[in-house]
Amino acid sequence: MDTLNPAEAHNLRTRKAVNLPYFDNLLKLLHEGNAAVAQGFGRHVHWGYWENPHQADATGADFAEAAENLSQEICRAGQINNGLRVLDVGCGFGGTIAHINEHDTGMQLTGLNLDSRQLQRARTQVVPRSGNRIEFVEGDACKLPFADHSFDVVLAVECIFHFPDRESFFREARRVLKPGGMLALSVSVQPYHIARLMGA
Ligand SMILES: C[S@@+](CC[C@H](N)C(=O)[O-])C[C@H]1O[C@@H](n2cnc3c(N)ncnc32)[C@H](O)[C@@H]1O
Repeated sequence: MDTLNPAEAHNLRTRKAVNLPYFDNLLKLLHEGNAAVAQGFGRHVHWGYWENPHQADATGADFAEAAENLSQEICRAGQINNGLRVLDVGCGFGGTIAHINEHDTGMQLTGLNLDSRQLQRARTQVVPRSGNRIEFVEGDACKLPFADHSFDVVLAVECIFHFPDRESFFREARRVLKPGGMLALSVSVQPYHIARLMGA
């Protein structure tokens, strides 16, 4: 009988827990070196924010710019400032952490994701600068592996629709936030065909 080595067993477990086919496709296309996909979705995996949607041209560069705009809006909503401890749940490839890393100093940044393959990419993509410390942690947003009152800000960018139990997530976010801490999140309103693609 064939047996799995520990790495294969881990991947299998993770994949079953995550089960997001669009990430399987994304990772495959990125692995194949698809430049358009890398430009549009190699850093952020969300739909972005257009100040003026009528000027959107749906190119990779346009998506990338809109994604950066959304990160900026989320950081503004979370009152992100130098020297804070920030948790980004469902961090994808670490795009929001990368954005903060490029704009703020003396930060302690933690990205959390269920999918070890995404975390692996995040770790290679995001290099700490300006006195920032960055870690990417495997775990479930509904059962956060952190002590009470650990963070000044919790972010959740276009991911809570995947969570099996949003009430648990909100309870956990409240638990790990310091008193007076901020939770900032964004959720896209998805037409039916996109919701199916995303597994929501
Ligand atoms: C649309 S992507 C958004 C990624 C990232 N926030 C961004 O904006 O680039 C949704 C993310 O949520 C993650 N996710 C889904 N369920 C999760 C859970 N229960 N705990 C942690 N992460 C989860 C997925 O693996 C994926 O990275």
